[in-house]
Amino acid sequence: MTRMHDPLGRMAPKPAAVEESGVALELSGVFSGYGDTAVLRDVDLVIPTGSVVALLGPNGAGKTTLLRTAAGLLRQSAGVVSMFGSSVGRTAPHERAARGICLIPEGRGVFPGLTVAENLRMQRPTWCRDKDGLDRAIEAFPDLGHRMDQLAGSMSGGQQQMLALSRAWVAQPRIVLLDEVSMGLAPRVVDEIFTALRRLAASGVTLLLVEQYVSRALSIADQVNLMDKGEISFSGSPQDLDQDALVSGYLGGEPAGPDAGAVRAR
Ligand SMILES: Nc1ncnc2c1ncn2[C@@H]1O[C@H](COP(=O)(O)OP(=O)(O)O)[C@@H](O)[C@H]1O
Ligand SMILES: [Mg+2]
Repeated sequence: MTRMHDPLGRMAPKPAAVEESGVALELSGVFSGYGDTAVLRDVDLVIPTGSVVALLGPNGAGKTTLLRTAAGLLRQSAGVVSMFGSSVGRTAPHERAARGICLIPEGRGVFPGLTVAENLRMQRPTWCRDKDGLDRAIEAFPDLGHRMDQLAGSMSGGQQQMLALSRAWVAQPRIVLLDEVSMGLAPRVVDEIFTALRRLAASGVTLLLVEQYVSRALSIADQVNLMDKGEISFSGSPQDLDQDALVSGYLGGEPAGPDAGAVRAR
C-alpha cells in the first residue's frame, strides 16, 4: 500500500508506530514443523511495513505452519523470526501479540456459547487500554452491531467469520496474519470481508494473507509468495506471476480445488 501524498507531492509523515523499521515481519532461513516432522525448509520471507502480502500454495504446502511459526505458536528449529527489526524467535505468542502481531486462524475462532458483545470483549487483550476497539469492529462489520446480544453460535458462517476477524480491529494489531478467512463463504460475504481488509490495510496495518481465492488475494496484494512443500518457490509482484497458470493449473480454479499442478513465474 502506498502512503498518501499531499498536493505538492510530498509523502505524508508516517505514523510514529512504523518509524522504527521498514520491515514488519521477516523470516530468515526458518525451519519449523511438528516433532520430527519438518515442514518449513529454509524459508525466507520479508513483509514490508504497511504492505499486503499474499501467501499461496496447495494444501499441505506449509502455509498454516508458517503463520503459526510467525505468531509464536510453533518455535522454529533454525533460523530467525523478527518483527520490526527485532528478533522474536524466543518470545511467547502473547509477547508477540503485545508487539503487534495478530493471527486470525483457520476456522471460525469464536466462542459459540457467548454473545457477540462478549466475544468482542474477549478479543481485547488485557494489555490493551484502548476502549474504542468494539466501535471500530462494528464500523468494519455493521451487521455485528445489530446482533450484540445474539449468541455467536446461532449466527451464519459469514457472520461468525466477521466476528472472528473483528480481533484485527479490537486488538489494534500492526501485523495481521489471515489464514483462509474466506473459506466456505458466499461470494457476497467474501466481498464484504475483502472490503474491510482493504480499509484495514489503508489504515497502515500490514497484512499477510493466506487465501484460496487466488484472484481476490492478488487484487489486494502488493507482493505474492508461492509456497510448495515447505519452501517459497516464487516471491515477487502479482504482475510478475503467470496468473492463468496459477489459477487453472496450480490451484484448480477459484476457489482452489484439491489438485495442484505446476506454477510458473513469467
Ligand atoms: N499438528 C500437526 N502435526 C503433524 N503434522 C502436521 C500438523 N499440522 C500440519 N501438519 C503437516 O504439515 C504439513 C503442512 O501443513 P499446513 O501448514 O497445515 O499446510 P497448508 O496450510 O499449506 O495447507 C502437512 O504435511 C501437514 O500434514
Ligand atoms: Mg492451512
